Amino acid sequence: MYHIISIHDFEKSDLDHLLDRAKEFDTGNYRSRVLDGKLAALLFFEPSTRTRMSFATAMVRLGGNSISVDSVEASSIAKGETLADTIRVVSGYADAIVLRHPKEGAARLASEFATVPVINAGDGAGQHPSQTLLDLYTIRQSMPIEGLDVGLLGDLRYGRTAHSLALALSLYGVTLHTTAPGGLEMPANIALELRERGVEVVEHADVEEVIRELDVLYVTRIQRERFPDSASYYNVASSYRITPEQLSGVREHLMILHPLPRAGEIDPAVDRTPYARYFEQARNGVPVRMALLHEVMQ
Ligand code: CP
Repeated sequence: MYHIISIHDFEKSDLDHLLDRAKEFDTGNYRSRVLDGKLAALLFFEPSTRTRMSFATAMVRLGGNSISVDSVEASSIAKGETLADTIRVVSGYADAIVLRHPKEGAARLASEFATVPVINAGDGAGQHPSQTLLDLYTIRQSMPIEGLDVGLLGDLRYGRTAHSLALALSLYGVTLHTTAPGGLEMPANIALELRERGVEVVEHADVEEVIRELDVLYVTRIQRERFPDSASYYNVASSYRITPEQLSGVREHLMILHPLPRAGEIDPAVDRTPYARYFEQARNGVPVRMALLHEVMQ
């Protein structure tokens, strides 16, 4: 069975295959309604707009359908049911399970109890592999990924999209330039793994130091919900913000990406610059998730 749990499970050829297939769906060159009669269960135990809605849209566009649970409170987990039992039960209703959960490792655990494929739609501060695929897809629409200079700005400690993306980019020979508020640097185990994979990782105190050398700037919000208390969040809140003024002299093809939602780290005035690609990036969630759903359910 084909689960989508972690970028660790992918080789470059797997990622490229999924990106090629997403492009076929995007350009209408692949037959649609290929999942006619199939059902995906969307179990979202944390808030989501893009991931949940684009998976639901992708199912409908493929001729299938989805059922969903949108919160812990709306499920029997609120009555003490374990995730393992929930997954066993839902496996009997649907042909695949898409799971978002606040605990790192939850999707891997779910895959051990599921009798249908599981797709990790974000597990705590762990990974968010389908987001990474749409990030790669968005970059590849404009330029080859190989050898790029990519900046990662924001909460690299708790930001699961940054973890997945950095690991995926390690397969493409990029140079990573990281900038994070104090205490929110990339976890040591991921930084070590990136270096072991041969990635040059350059840390910068301020994105201003490097912004003119970047091909891609990937901005993330501070993951307030992962902080132990509000005081530690407010110590780092509002510590960085991309403005149009900061973009003077950047490379003409610079692409600013953000998994969204944003919470003040990109000035809305940046939206009117040619560098802002984050809404197009969100839109790419549909063809990419069509490719993923098709892959696991065909
Ligand atoms: N990028 C992302 O995961 O957005 P949502 O939380 O809205 O799904």
